[in-house]
Amino acid sequence: MKQDLIVILDLGSTQNTVIAREIRDLGVYSEIHPHDITVEELKTLPNVKGIILNGGENRVVDGQEVQVRPELYELGYPMLSIDYPQSKCAAQFAELPDGDTLKKFLFEECRAEANWNMKNFIEDQIELIRRQVGDRKVLLALSGGVDSSVVAAMLIKAIGQQLVCVHVNHGLMRKNESESVVKVFRDELHANLVYVDASERFLGKLENVSDPEQKRKIIGGEFIRVFEEEARKLEGIDFLGQGTIYPDIIESGTKTAKMVKSHHNVGGLPEDLKFELVEPLKQLFKDEVRACGVELGLPHDMVYRQPFPGPGLGVRCLGAITRDRLEAVRESDAILREEFARAGLDKKVWQYFTVVPDFKSVGMKNNARVFEYMVIIRVINTVDAMTASVEKVDWDVLERITERILAEVENVNRVCYDMSPKPPATIEFE
Ligand code: XMP
Repeated sequence: MKQDLIVILDLGSTQNTVIAREIRDLGVYSEIHPHDITVEELKTLPNVKGIILNGGENRVVDGQEVQVRPELYELGYPMLSIDYPQSKCAAQFAELPDGDTLKKFLFEECRAEANWNMKNFIEDQIELIRRQVGDRKVLLALSGGVDSSVVAAMLIKAIGQQLVCVHVNHGLMRKNESESVVKVFRDELHANLVYVDASERFLGKLENVSDPEQKRKIIGGEFIRVFEEEARKLEGIDFLGQGTIYPDIIESGTKTAKMVKSHHNVGGLPEDLKFELVEPLKQLFKDEVRACGVELGLPHDMVYRQPFPGPGLGVRCLGAITRDRLEAVRESDAILREEFARAGLDKKVWQYFTVVPDFKSVGMKNNARVFEYMVIIRVINTVDAMTASVEKVDWDVLERITERILAEVENVNRVCYDMSPKPPATIEFE
């Protein structure tokens, strides 16, 4: 194994990720683990050089203060404790120590080496994946999003043809998106890829369904059913690969951190499909996942793509989905993305997309009255997607996009720009 490791034990701190980042920024790999990790579990972690006992305001769980197992103190690892007065031996700090103190702990007391980088991380993960999987098979739902793509690239490198990727096209993908997944993974990375075109099935289930929550439920539920059917066709699969990343774990709640929202990375697969999980990115933050993807040789566009919701264009074709409006969303989105790339805005703006509502307005084409749909352009900036502001897009760029949408997208006679920040609006419309 290439990298040294500092283990951060979560004793109720809200600062776990801050300290993990700070240690990684000093060049040493760090991982956050639950406070009640056992000696046996700790011993399975490679190259542990020291432990940080990270206490804080969430220290009381079910009426009891959380504690580390006392046997851990016997192991002889250098320890540093933050806001955890119960610690024995460890140097104690009331709050996050300054950079010099942290450096002294890492490099003098723990004698850790600054050997954390993506190349070493990938090599270590590959070794761990090979140890875990042996000669057995792994199944992966490959959506084409950043996280699943990076996991796929990592698993291909680690176990090659023992990985089976399943890409389900729910018919709500952006223009050429499924084609690009097949091209990159099957043709270029030679993945064992099962492509399932389930467009008709999804559109059938969604017919006449206008309630946003019901649409989301149908798309999510059907996705699991299709994936499950494909999994049952394959034989001898013991593992499920997943693109879980560290923020997913935090937001889903840990023993001391409260749940923000549940992440269905496992997709609620049925109990009788018994898989062991392979989650090589679960200790990474989003920017690190992207860096990992670049190091693994994935195309820039795939790694730096803007966020795209799981239900896809389904939540941007408002109300009950119809094929003509879905096409209008897909085509106008493609134009918007093309023009944003041309203007260099794709690197500047956090998220940009188009929406087509389910009502028409009167217009004129070729001197005749038309009654057609409108396209709404939404362009926002945000740090954490909890609040968002509207980007002041250059007027000339907006004019060019409008001209192209009106000329190239069928059934559309009007283009609007959404000026609403979040809150009160959300980023997506549904
Ligand atoms: P809202 O609309 O809640 O969106 O302001 C916040 C961010 O989350 C994205 N989003 C989703 N991402 N599955 C996802 O993976 C979803 O169901 C989903 N819904 C919204 C949205 O695009 C924005 O970036």
